[in-house]
Amino acid sequence: MAAGKGTRMKSQRPKVLHRLGGRPLLQHVLDTAAALQAARTLVITGHGAGEVEAALAGLDLQCVRQVPQLGTGHAIQQVLPHLPEGEGTVLILNGDVPLIREATLRALAAACGGRALALLTVELADPGGYGRIVRAAGGGVRGIVEHKDASPDQRAIREIYSGIMAAPLPALRRWVMALQNDNAQREYYLTDIVAMAVSEGVPVVAQAVADDTEVLGVNSPLQLAGLERRLQKRLAEAQMEAGVRLADPARFDLRGALSCGEDVEIDVGCVFEGTVRVGSRVSVGAHCVIRDAEIGDDVVIHAFTHIEGARVGHGGRVGPYARLRPGAELGAEVHIGNFVEVKNSTLGRGAKANHLAYLGDATVGARVNYGAGSITANYDGANKHRTVIEDDVHVGSNCVLVAPVTIGAGATIAGGSTIARPAPAGQLTVARARQLSVPTWKRPAKTKKG
Ligand code: UD1
Ligand code: CA
Repeated sequence: MAAGKGTRMKSQRPKVLHRLGGRPLLQHVLDTAAALQAARTLVITGHGAGEVEAALAGLDLQCVRQVPQLGTGHAIQQVLPHLPEGEGTVLILNGDVPLIREATLRALAAACGGRALALLTVELADPGGYGRIVRAAGGGVRGIVEHKDASPDQRAIREIYSGIMAAPLPALRRWVMALQNDNAQREYYLTDIVAMAVSEGVPVVAQAVADDTEVLGVNSPLQLAGLERRLQKRLAEAQMEAGVRLADPARFDLRGALSCGEDVEIDVGCVFEGTVRVGSRVSVGAHCVIRDAEIGDDVVIHAFTHIEGARVGHGGRVGPYARLRPGAELGAEVHIGNFVEVKNSTLGRGAKANHLAYLGDATVGARVNYGAGSITANYDGANKHRTVIEDDVHVGSNCVLVAPVTIGAGATIAGGSTIARPAPAGQLTVARARQLSVPTWKRPAKTKKG
């Protein structure tokens, strides 16, 4: 169910598309559902349906629109025509309850077994706002009463309905079509089917979940941030169980997939996005952002480094304050220092650019030393061009290499040169005005006022 408005988010974006751990809330639910290999997956859309459906394009599921949105029971009424005939178990999930686990859902579906109505419940210290599980004197479930319809006695009940259930398909059809909206919200409540099941003598199973994180919903930015921390705690613990040494699990953010070899240390405040693969004996300094990258063995990434779409070969040193952009491919033992930006460039073994430099669209050979303040002028205002710097070149400080240009192997480029033509191998090339001293020159003296 993903048709609700999410008023309390106070956002233009449909609630289920807000991100948790880098993925939309709804995507979390769908990924978990996909693991169950259901015969059919249906998503009920309504509020912001166009946007939600666009976000789901290409997935193996069917969207069913609910317009207008008259409650959770009304939402399920819309999908009934799209469900197969005959027996089966229908699992009903909430698009805004993202951290439900696969094992919990499997157990719930098993408890239903195509015959019983299985409700996922939890005990909350503060049950305000939720539907309460009402039990008979003998302990059996009698029904669910919504918070707004509950009496003071019922509001004291701490056992709540999570919004997730598994129901036998033929019975679900019958019950949902019989729902009425004579309640405080004038809505068709799906939860009213519980009393119907009880009156028909269909077994109702309340299955309690131990970890409330699994059933917490997102209704506000505060709850979204709270759930993000819980998710990050789970992810940080999984990394530490795999041997990664996090300086502080409370200051670690993973928004994708991170795999690490042995003896990896990650300092505080780092953010990993997309798919990041890290080798063994790697140290990542504080406050680095690393997205879609591959880091080799024995690499040191110093603090405040930004890496995206790049590869760092083994034994490399990067940062602090370095930026590797898409297509940066650093060979083994490459050093990239502070305020150096590398984009769409390959660097050979042992190449170094240690200070304040730019390498864009460049092919850099082994052992090249690229001086402070030097840049490749790779863009002529219309097209990008390549710079080739062959092995063992030494580029002095503050040089401009105007692409397309090639610097031959072993060449030395004098500091301050602007190189727009090929520089021959093995030679010193100087391309700057010759230094001139003027012995007769006198510094102007200050003229007296008035
Ligand atoms: C619902 C349950 C309540 C439970 C709570 C758990 C009902 C009547 N109440 O309450 O017992 O404790 O969830 O979080 O079911 N939705 C639609 N169409 C609609 C209305 C809602 O698709 O017309 C979707 C929402 O997008 C959401 C889910 O259904 O994913 C739950 O809706 P919401 O309004 O949040 O339900 P609650 O009132 O919180
Ligand atoms: Ca509601």
